[in-house]
Amino acid sequence: MACRTTAGAADYLVAGLTMLEYRGYDSAGLAVSAADGSTAVFRTTQRVNALHDLAKAWGGPSLGGIGIGHTRWATHGGVRVANAHPHQDCLRRLSVVHNGIIDNAPHLRAELQQLGHVFQSDVDSEVICHLVEDALATTGDLLEAVNRTVQQLTGSWAIVVLDGETRRMVAAAHRSPLLVAHSDRGMFLASDVSAIADWVDEFHILDDGDVVEVSDELVWLRDGVAVDAPDPIASPTQASGRRLDAGDHMASEIDEQPEAAARVLNDIGSLIANGALWRGLGLPRFDRLRVVACGTSLNAGQVIGAGLSRLGGLAHSVVVASEAAGSVIEPGTLTLAISQSGETADVLRAIDESPIGTPVLALVNNAHSTLARKVGSVLVCPAGPEVGVAATKTFVCQVLMGAGLVISALVASGRMSQTTARALVDDLAQTPERLAAAADSARLALPGVIEDVRNANGFIFLGRGAAVPYAAEGALKLKELTYRWAEAYPAGELKHGPLALVEDGTPVVVVDDADPRLVGNIAEVSARGGRILTIGQPGSRIEVPLSKHSPCGPLEAVVPLQLLALNLAADLGFDVDKPRNLAKSVTVD
Ligand code: M6R
Repeated sequence: MACRTTAGAADYLVAGLTMLEYRGYDSAGLAVSAADGSTAVFRTTQRVNALHDLAKAWGGPSLGGIGIGHTRWATHGGVRVANAHPHQDCLRRLSVVHNGIIDNAPHLRAELQQLGHVFQSDVDSEVICHLVEDALATTGDLLEAVNRTVQQLTGSWAIVVLDGETRRMVAAAHRSPLLVAHSDRGMFLASDVSAIADWVDEFHILDDGDVVEVSDELVWLRDGVAVDAPDPIASPTQASGRRLDAGDHMASEIDEQPEAAARVLNDIGSLIANGALWRGLGLPRFDRLRVVACGTSLNAGQVIGAGLSRLGGLAHSVVVASEAAGSVIEPGTLTLAISQSGETADVLRAIDESPIGTPVLALVNNAHSTLARKVGSVLVCPAGPEVGVAATKTFVCQVLMGAGLVISALVASGRMSQTTARALVDDLAQTPERLAAAADSARLALPGVIEDVRNANGFIFLGRGAAVPYAAEGALKLKELTYRWAEAYPAGELKHGPLALVEDGTPVVVVDDADPRLVGNIAEVSARGGRILTIGQPGSRIEVPLSKHSPCGPLEAVVPLQLLALNLAADLGFDVDKPRNLAKSVTVD
């Protein structure tokens, strides 16, 4: 992020970066203009708050209101202070923060080193400082220098360059989010509006290729030509009043799930059985669905795709976004891109690489995200801000939204009667109550369960049919939060290899939606000493009210699975809101 205010840049930057802490990072830094024309740089591999202490302890010339700040999630180069942003040019005149990856950095670095530039870090971002340094020496103008520099880059970037000598500040973006806002406090730049929402009412989003000088006014270049700033967008996070910098976020977000589910049903409930939800999207009829997503959103996609095949007999495929390149898309395919953040680079790239003319629908939790802006048709989940790195309420909302979409599309295309659809919607309407009951039941049973599995190093999660994606989601949550190995399998697959992992006491979590074939699979595990933990039908260790007819399968089982991961992680002393090595918004591919 960056700010251009009358005073106190370090305070603004630390406050803004604190608001972004929830997204995950491993080092942080600031560069702030000083009264003598120099730039003070503070960097740390500790928490953002350490920057506040470093700035307070500064004994140099007084610090002003212009500065840039960054939290880094390591891609190129280990976690050490020298690799933290901001980076500087050879003369220490220019400071740069960068999100994204410069694909041609090795080549540029070699060229720059041959020209005599000296590098201080291992990171790709540092090439930007030296390129701007050279371009500035030639042009004498920072805006033009940054404009020339970005033309030499390949990859993705959201950058802000601060010239300590002239105090000019120029930003540029390509395939990485960046927005700029001004208010009576000054000018602000951020990769996520939540960093600055307390100080601004509206913001402008940089498009791919934009270069913008941020002085008292905005000078906006698109393809090198001066244009007006794009229309402003109202700041949504401010309206939510939600603090992003404190609290037990994941626990509250799990608690909020019945309420979030009710919001989804309130928004779309009346548009499902008459086909209006689908028709409102203006998309062509489709014969097969291709879901593209990552992580938890991918698991939601598995539920949605399986629901379409089960209810409508239409084929579906679920593609890991980072592996989507080269997939063959048959005519009549609708691509459904699912991403709660709408900023996941793997998903954005997969959509960019889809053949031109392929219909794409985005399912996001942020109406202003890059994915939402990139794609013509969008469904927005009303989950509200999700701060915990582990996705919980956004998953539930994606699944419900997706189920509504599937039913509505089947009705609109004449593949399902309105009567059948109404019965399914009536069933969906019970979801909030069932989610709440699932949470109550889990809370009663979990202390004993945690006692049993506290020392286990590895877990297996099983399900059959509609339960398989929930087993996958349970395993993902457990490994993400507890750092224990956890693998999910369709239960029938166990005997084809994974059963070798089961020994005395191995926890095997079974999402039990009463599929009769599970009885045999459970017996196979028990015979080898595995410790069975069933979640689902009456008689399970954690009983969950499931509906046999829900278009979502055993959705309610996800609540005990989330709470198992959360409680075990807390018991082991881990920070569930900020799991190690992970980021909330994964903007690099
Ligand atoms: O923002 P997205 O939904 O695109 O994020 C995709 C994954 O990075 C995300 O779901 C991740 O797997 C979660 N941290 C899991 O809890």
